[in-house]
Amino acid sequence: MEISVTVNGKTYRHNVPPRLLLVHYLREQLNLTGAHVGCDTSQCGACVVDVNAQSVKSCTMLAVQADGAQVTTIEGLATNGAYHPMQESFWEMHGLQCGFCTPGMIMSATALLQRNSNPTDAEIRHALEGNLCRCTGYENIVKAVRHAAQQGRAGSNGSMHQGAKPEVPESAEELEHPRRDDGVPEKPETVGDWEGENAGVDETTPMGQGGM
Ligand code: FES
Ligand code: FES
Repeated sequence: MEISVTVNGKTYRHNVPPRLLLVHYLREQLNLTGAHVGCDTSQCGACVVDVNAQSVKSCTMLAVQADGAQVTTIEGLATNGAYHPMQESFWEMHGLQCGFCTPGMIMSATALLQRNSNPTDAEIRHALEGNLCRCTGYENIVKAVRHAAQQGRAGSNGSMHQGAKPEVPESAEELEHPRRDDGVPEKPETVGDWEGENAGVDETTPMGQGGM
């Protein structure tokens, strides 16, 4: 069947099998592999994307059902090389471990703050009930969403569905963690630095002498 879908602001037209799931269309046809497949039972939420301003588990929807829809995936959140404020918050608050659940978590959390810019912890947990983290990093995930809300970040900036990309800091100086052009953080540069430890320690410092 012929479908036309706008994904992250770009319109695609494809002939797809009627039984093709949206998540497989995104991953295999469009090569947008941020939406993950983590279960066969529509429970994990790793595949969450935004379809016409609704959070959707893209493994529960056929690609043909997205005909004419506006879809935003995790790849569509960053703009001009700058991460979405919710992505920044997950980074700053260590809201991920292996990262498998993270795209779905961030999509669900961003949608939450768009409808409720000041959620309680209970409301955050309720909103993320459909997203499972096998690393069980829930405490920091909630902290990350709370942090984004407190910063007024996603609530005021994350307008995914109004014909505009989310607003983002326009210069590296506006970011707490500037990145080089290739997206790599300028600082910190070591794993210890990422954890706020051993800041400034040369990576070549031998073990036991202040190294990692
Ligand atoms: S892959 Fe969609 S809910 Fe698990
Ligand atoms: S960070 Fe590993 S599954 Fe959530």
